[in-house]
Amino acid sequence: MLLTREEMTFDFEGGTLDPVRDRELIEWMLNQFLYGEMTGIQVGHWLYEHAPDYEAAKFLARQSLEEMQHVENFLRIMAMLGCKPRPAHPAVRFLATGMMGGSWAEHVALEMANGEGFVLMAFYAVIDTLDHKPSVDILRRAVKQEERHVEFGEQQTMKAIEGRGWLRRRLLGLNLVSMWGVRRLAGFMAKRLPADHPVLKFLPRFLELSNRCAETRMRRMGLLDRPLAELGGLKRAALVSEAYAGKALGGLLSLLATPLRLLPWFRRKRLTETYLTDPRIAGLELPPPGATADATAD
Ligand SMILES: [Fe+2]
Ligand SMILES: [Fe+2]
Repeated sequence: MLLTREEMTFDFEGGTLDPVRDRELIEWMLNQFLYGEMTGIQVGHWLYEHAPDYEAAKFLARQSLEEMQHVENFLRIMAMLGCKPRPAHPAVRFLATGMMGGSWAEHVALEMANGEGFVLMAFYAVIDTLDHKPSVDILRRAVKQEERHVEFGEQQTMKAIEGRGWLRRRLLGLNLVSMWGVRRLAGFMAKRLPADHPVLKFLPRFLELSNRCAETRMRRMGLLDRPLAELGGLKRAALVSEAYAGKALGGLLSLLATPLRLLPWFRRKRLTETYLTDPRIAGLELPPPGATADATAD
């Protein structure tokens, strides 16, 4: 990953979440995570429709399995803590499902690098504060997989923007919108959260750190070439409108092109049609002549 565990760690100054005292809060939080993990079924869409190559397809196939294992993890944690599965907050449902990316680049940059990066920080925070060792042990194992998902998002984003300035600006503009959402959430919480709770009182500052980490990640991926503070309000507004105008235009063109897609020449090709030209498969290394077929078996 482009950020370390230390960089993504917030200091809660020893504050803890108590499974008995904070049961209601923990149940609410676990239900948001449960929903988020269930959206792992969307990986199926990206695998079938968009996987750019064989390596990415293998990664996504494994990721979908891991996300379903995470659903099991949260169910186990909920059962241990006496929490019931309930619907997630509408804002969480909208962020995780309603704002699904419109292209592979948007998926890897916004949902994987940024979105899963944000969730990963929340997991670290729960690991550092939840006073229930069996649950924390389960989460510790799951974050290793989430770290790999974020890393894949970062690598694929860097690959996608290489030599494509317009795409870099579009992803930056869309990212600015989600960071603005996090800032609004922090402002909303600062006014309403109990100021004396050992963990909740830190939430606005925790969200600020999340945004700073998102900014650092964008700089390291090359989406952003200077600190955000140096981008004026006008420049930011221009980036956001360019991003949405580009998305709207793309949407319109794709709608107009829908009838054309019925024709074989205009259809997006899936891996089943392209795998023989995939570098991993076309570059298959054969054993030297005369070597036995099972020479590489061990
Ligand atoms: Fe997950
Ligand atoms: Fe994930």
